[in-house]
Amino acid sequence: MKRILITGVSRGIGHEFALQYARAGHTVYGIARSLSNLQGLRDEGVQLIPGDVTDPGLDEILKHSLTGVDIDICINNAGVFPNRDRIDIIPESDAMRLAFEVNVLGPLNVVKAVEKYMVKAGKFVMLSTSMASIAGSGGGGISYSVSKTALNMLTKKLQHSYSDYVFLLLHPGWVKTDMGGQGASLEIPYAVSSMIETIDDADSFAYLDYKGELIPW
Ligand SMILES: NC(=O)c1ccc[n+]([C@@H]2O[C@H](COP(=O)([O-])OP(=O)(O)OC[C@H]3O[C@@H](n4cnc5c(N)ncnc54)[C@H](OP(=O)(O)O)[C@@H]3O)[C@@H](O)[C@H]2O)c1
Repeated sequence: MKRILITGVSRGIGHEFALQYARAGHTVYGIARSLSNLQGLRDEGVQLIPGDVTDPGLDEILKHSLTGVDIDICINNAGVFPNRDRIDIIPESDAMRLAFEVNVLGPLNVVKAVEKYMVKAGKFVMLSTSMASIAGSGGGGISYSVSKTALNMLTKKLQHSYSDYVFLLLHPGWVKTDMGGQGASLEIPYAVSSMIETIDDADSFAYLDYKGELIPW
């Protein structure tokens, strides 16, 4: 059984990752900005940690829960899609700043805080998106796409810096969450169970979709 840390478990994909891993018997640590309304996860045995991925004090917060714990998988799931209610031809700088703050600096902050607890060959999973692919890029979603492309490059750099671990960039598909919207093509449980299989199978740095297919950079 594995020990798994997941960010952004309050809803959506992160919440489902926590549920599925806990129900499979793994030890799950879930980070969320607010722990209210998460009794369901507690009842499943998920150990909840209050935290914002952008908080410079995250290291101190994690010490209380993780000292003496070995982590096998760290899932950087928390993310934002700013400006989504408008056609962001040119994104406002606030939207761009927020996207970088949460989608790029957030995962970096988490990796730096969690790295000391990771087992050798442990996996850092970064929730990216096909919208980060320069090769496959269309218009729209500019601040989001640009921040996730930066996350892809950051992850490649982290793989070089932390060669004891495996870094994976995963596109979950277009999923019916608050972010994906109800018009999305995938149900949350299917997207997450597919990603869990892909995480199990992957053993080297890659940018993959939920089914394990390579995405062009
Ligand atoms: N849904 C899709 O179709 C889709 C497609 C491609 C990629 N993704 C990626 O998959 C990941 C999860 O997406 P989702 O669809 O589940 O999104 P979501 O429904 O909007 O949920 C986002 C989660 O991230 C948390 N979060 C946001 N900012 C945070 C912060 N600063 N610190 C801690 N937690 C924070 C939210 O917490 P609060 O409740 O506190 O706001 C929430 O739990 C994201 O990285 C997203 O970019 C999703």
